[in-house]
Amino acid sequence: MYEDIERVLVTEEEIRAKIKEMGEAISRDYAGKELVVVGILKGAALFTADLFRQITIPATLDFMRIVSYAGTKSTGVHRVLLDLEYELDNKHVLVVEDIVDTGLTIRFLMDYLKPRNPASLRVASLLDKPSRRKVDVEIHYKGFEIPDEFVVGMGLDYNEKYRNLREICVLKPEVYTRQG
Ligand code: PRP
Repeated sequence: MYEDIERVLVTEEEIRAKIKEMGEAISRDYAGKELVVVGILKGAALFTADLFRQITIPATLDFMRIVSYAGTKSTGVHRVLLDLEYELDNKHVLVVEDIVDTGLTIRFLMDYLKPRNPASLRVASLLDKPSRRKVDVEIHYKGFEIPDEFVVGMGLDYNEKYRNLREICVLKPEVYTRQG
């Protein structure tokens, strides 16, 4: 896999330290509250598992799977393929993403989950690519701000590959131009 990698942007150690920090902040902020952690498949599966392990207060874990059709990239149409198992009434909900890019997925999720009356609704994201933003969204717990480069690893893929890299890596441009 590494032959397709141009360089490592965030190391495994940096990721581990940051996730620990985020887990501590979340544990402090939600102490005494009913916390539901919602991982967004597939990209956030790995980060969600690592972050959840660093949360030291009682919390429940659930997942959603959203697909987006990027036919018209700026309007991106989203569809829910897997919905939550439990109600959110009066629960404190933390949506966990691997990356916020245009912000359209988070905007969709906020609009989709708010009507379920959670006591609070916040977002944690491992990566933030602010230069690509199309809609304004708030990220309450942020790992790393990254430049506008094609990154893979820690759950992020290109054509379903590279999700299992332990670092955040910049892919060689010839890989995604070669494979279309
Ligand atoms: C990625 C990522 C976020 C979304 C962010 O998911 O996991 O959900 O894109 O982009 P946005 O801010 O522009 O909406 P993707 O649709 O690639 O699916 P995956 O998680 O299954 O890889």
